[in-house]
Amino acid sequence: MTGKSEITVTVNGQQYRSQVEPRLLLVYYLRDVLELTGTHIGCNTSQCGACTVLLNGEAVKACTVFAAQADGCEVTTIEGLAPEGGLHPIQEGFWEKHGLQCGFCTPGMIMASYQLLKDSPNPSGEEIRHDLKGNICRCTGYENIVRAVQYAAERMQAEATQRTTWGEGAS
Ligand code: FES
Ligand code: FES
Repeated sequence: MTGKSEITVTVNGQQYRSQVEPRLLLVYYLRDVLELTGTHIGCNTSQCGACTVLLNGEAVKACTVFAAQADGCEVTTIEGLAPEGGLHPIQEGFWEKHGLQCGFCTPGMIMASYQLLKDSPNPSGEEIRHDLKGNICRCTGYENIVRAVQYAAERMQAEATQRTTWGEGAS
């Protein structure tokens, strides 16, 4: 008797079946078992947001979830946000607006921004600062992060408009 249980989790579109200990946190499962080290560990106590991933499309801090709780769920990490070889508009925004320095907070910041833009596609600077308050950055002073998210919002809205226009043109 190992005390482990079997879980099946789809991560970045790929299904994994693993034996995990009940106390294994999702962030360690992603990093140590699946070797997806883009998800960072800053505090392990739900303070910093470096470990943010999407669980069934909703942003969660992966140090607050047991791997066993993700059984049957879909997880998206920073590695799976964009098609291979490309950048998601949020990643592009952080690149274009210099929204990072050391980059430690960046994967979590980007995943939290994804949730923010899903809930509010055209956020004000104040809204961005408020919504990302669970993600700590020691380097940037946040100003360029706000600009990066605003850049992404514009890009995503332009893409949505383009899709609608093409859709209308096709019908
Ligand atoms: S490592 Fe999860 S919130 Fe800091
Ligand atoms: S860029 Fe260094 S912690 Fe945010």
